[in-house]
Amino acid sequence: MPHLPRYDRTKTYQQNFDLAPDPVDVEVPQLAGDWRFAGLPVASPLGIPAGPLLNGRWCLYYASLGFDVLTYKTVRSVERDCYPLPNLLPVRCGQLYGGEDRLPASDTMQGSWAVSFGMPSKSPDFWRRDIEQTRARLPAGKLLSVSVVGTVEDNWTIDDLANDYAQCARWAVASGADCVETNFSCPNVSTCDGQLYQNPAEAQLVAAQVRDAIGAVPYFVKVGQVNTDDEVSQLLAALAPHVTGLAMTNSVAVTVADHTNQLAFDGQRRGICGAAILAASLAQTEHFAQQIEAQQLDLELIGVGGAATAHDVQRYLAAGANSVHLATAAMTNPQVAIEIKQQWSP
Ligand SMILES: Cc1cc2nc3c(=O)[nH]c(=O)nc-3n(C[C@H](O)[C@H](O)[C@H](O)COP(=O)(O)O)c2cc1C
Repeated sequence: MPHLPRYDRTKTYQQNFDLAPDPVDVEVPQLAGDWRFAGLPVASPLGIPAGPLLNGRWCLYYASLGFDVLTYKTVRSVERDCYPLPNLLPVRCGQLYGGEDRLPASDTMQGSWAVSFGMPSKSPDFWRRDIEQTRARLPAGKLLSVSVVGTVEDNWTIDDLANDYAQCARWAVASGADCVETNFSCPNVSTCDGQLYQNPAEAQLVAAQVRDAIGAVPYFVKVGQVNTDDEVSQLLAALAPHVTGLAMTNSVAVTVADHTNQLAFDGQRRGICGAAILAASLAQTEHFAQQIEAQQLDLELIGVGGAATAHDVQRYLAAGANSVHLATAAMTNPQVAIEIKQQWSP
């Protein structure tokens, strides 16, 4: 296989946006089985979560490389710039379970990095048109999910925020999105739009309004780390009436110090993504799946976090996920879905 283009972490977000590669013509193995995502037929359980697919061209590129559920990066009702570089800072660490305080940065990528984008967005005019064109060009057997987030303004109530989420969701569906995801968990922003999953009452209010706005279109909520039985069951009770499923987990938030012991990102915490969060995300998926079964809820789980091999994907499916999405592994190794499909043993 020729060297495949990928996200360049030394370049700015806009440069990577502009450098989106064209789809490639490569052979992708078929995965046997009757795979579904939110009840819709799909060629495999492999997808890309919100983040790596900056625009429609990135979606079509990864679709050509064997990913079957493509999540368009989180968009907003207003244009928003990206945080300054570094946006992706490799870290040195073992498995993270939450509660860790500080990690050392690493000069080389060893599987995990701190993610610092701040959920940038193009204007709705841009992304609505881009989604429409992308959906029209997506090959059969693939689905386009669109991730949205509300943008809090001074003096906004939770109803205002819910309206903003709902407006973005409505626009995404009108542009042709097969599914919508609302991001209720972003450790890199300090406003309540980044932490909704920790407040079941507010999460419910927003989810209900989004559901109202999009009718029967499949709807997922992205959450971060949820630890106790009580927290899991409160979040499920709040969201189950309104959503198709949950995507977990976003990341594990910590501070990062460089080799001179200077704190990166002005000492603010950033989400660690990649290999280091596999064990915690798998355990959380299993925890939610057990409660979903015990409470006989009709909810799907998308396993996200640290997956990089067929074995990892199969562990997520065994833990109760219906679909498994890879961000870091897909960015560092664009042919990972092809390798997973080659390695697959039923
Ligand atoms: C470059 C990058 C950008 C991301 N941006 C978003 C985002 O905009 N919205 C979101 O819900 N999650 C975002 N995430 C989190 C991913 O969706 C995913 O939860 C996380 O990377 C864990 O998966 P991984 O271990 O396979 O990377 C981003 C992750 C990365 C690596």
